[in-house]
Amino acid sequence: FNVPEPKNEPVFDYAPGTPERAKLQAALQEARSKEIDVPMYIGSEEVRTGNKVPLSPPHDHQHLLGHFHEGDKSHVEQAVNAALGAKEAWETMEWEQRAAIFLKAADLIAGPYRYKINAATMLGQSKNAFQAEIDSACEIVDFLRFNVKYMTDIYKQQPPISGDGVWNRLEQRPLEGFVFALTPFNFTAIAGNLPTAPAMMGNTVVWKPAYTQIYAANVLMQVFREAGVPDGVINLVYVDGPSAGEVIFEHPEFAGIHFTGSTAVFQTIWKTIGNNIEKYKSYPRIVGETGGKDFVIAHKSADAKQLATGLVRGAFEFQGQKCSAASRAYVPSNLWEDVKKYMQEDLSTIKMGGPEDFSNFVNAVIDEKSFDKIAKYIDNAKNDGLEVVAGGNYDKSKGYFVEPTVLLAKDPMYTTMCEEIFGPVLTIYVYQEDHFEEALELVDKTSPYGLTGAIFSHDRYAAQLATQKLRNAAGNFYINDKPTGAVVGQQPFGGARKSGTNDKAGAMINMLRWVSPRTIKETF
Ligand code: NAD
Ligand code: ALA
Repeated sequence: FNVPEPKNEPVFDYAPGTPERAKLQAALQEARSKEIDVPMYIGSEEVRTGNKVPLSPPHDHQHLLGHFHEGDKSHVEQAVNAALGAKEAWETMEWEQRAAIFLKAADLIAGPYRYKINAATMLGQSKNAFQAEIDSACEIVDFLRFNVKYMTDIYKQQPPISGDGVWNRLEQRPLEGFVFALTPFNFTAIAGNLPTAPAMMGNTVVWKPAYTQIYAANVLMQVFREAGVPDGVINLVYVDGPSAGEVIFEHPEFAGIHFTGSTAVFQTIWKTIGNNIEKYKSYPRIVGETGGKDFVIAHKSADAKQLATGLVRGAFEFQGQKCSAASRAYVPSNLWEDVKKYMQEDLSTIKMGGPEDFSNFVNAVIDEKSFDKIAKYIDNAKNDGLEVVAGGNYDKSKGYFVEPTVLLAKDPMYTTMCEEIFGPVLTIYVYQEDHFEEALELVDKTSPYGLTGAIFSHDRYAAQLATQKLRNAAGNFYINDKPTGAVVGQQPFGGARKSGTNDKAGAMINMLRWVSPRTIKETF
């Protein structure tokens, strides 16, 4: 059981003049200079349907990165059959062999594939180099290495006690059937983690990524194949969500879903599974990390500069398209003027544009639907008389660009204080500095979600009070830090309430969801 002790992959900063920057620039140039043809991967086949869907960077509509081949329900059926066909050999493979495959995948990503994966994320999802480095290459390496460790911890768990003449054992079986990995657009690492975590535990998987993440998913799939994941263990299909769901959720061998995406889609899926419950051999495992409306609250003792920096970084990294992004803040009246000044100064220096120019902190939002939704929130806020503290402009002529926008709401129940926008919009409510407890109650009351949150305070009693009162409002809670950037192995990530089943991605409790233990009693 002595697998290598996992360590977090060191993060490159891609500073000017570094060799890493030159390598990433070369990978970007190569990716931009050739159009790729992306197949689905079903069993041993690379499937090209001829139904080609173009792939373009969200920040540059005119540029064609290539095409992917879209499938239909028949391809999902084939993928399910391939997963079921590969199951027996995979689940009976010694766990060390499975572990070795995923450790090799981690090494391939940390080494030769690092720049390719980051370049694919930068171009496909419009993410800057540093964010790509932490949220794609390094985080998937961490997921793979730490999950192998948790996997071994599960296999070597303390066995049940045995009495005289009896030997009791606990066997960690994979689930019976196949697992469905349904993945979001925003994090390449999450897209890679959702199929590999169940696969590590001996399950075979059908993986359906968001269309806007296929460009990077294809690179991950190449890595998994090169690392030795056998045919049929992970099958990657490009089919619209509802069609995929119609095949998967009707199937008697459907054993579980590993989902990350919006709350609305997860609720629809949960209802569908409930309606079909009698069709399944076993009760499916439902593991989902979903939406958020993440908060920052400051106490009057907080440092205004530190708070302003935390808000700008927490709200506008990756254009606010992190499930963990700060999107509402509660600032005490004594700090507001300073916080406003510092934020405006900071935001005035931030550049927006394509990620190929490494000086652009802000890039484009993911697609037109998202752009239009965000623009509408901004327009409505302006029409409703909210003060626009910063930003407020948008333009989709070249790419889907939205300025980092800070709104000031007089009503703490205003829509942008309550609804997930998933874009670069932060709404601030200024509360009377001596009403901290009421402000905490307000935060909790307006948190149907429970993903991330932060308290900024110099006063330890205030920090403690916030930690207690907001116990259920965030599954990841930060003291004097922005609410984004959880690191695998350091801050296990996930939330409850409407933010998911809180099975903490990259943690042992998540890996336990992918096994179904069997107790064996033998009498001598
Ligand atoms: P989404 O819900 O639109 O899509 C997620 C996946 O579900 C995609 O593959 C999509 O094609 C598929 N899908 C959509 N409708 C479907 C249906 N009716 N049946 C079956 N599949 C369907 O999410 P997104 O826009 O890709 O990602 C953004 C959302 O994900 C945000 O709400 C964000 O908060 C959330 N998210 C949460 C976490 C977390 O850890 N809690 C992490 C990342 C993203
Ligand atoms: N690791 C991501 C974050 O915490 C989800 O922002």
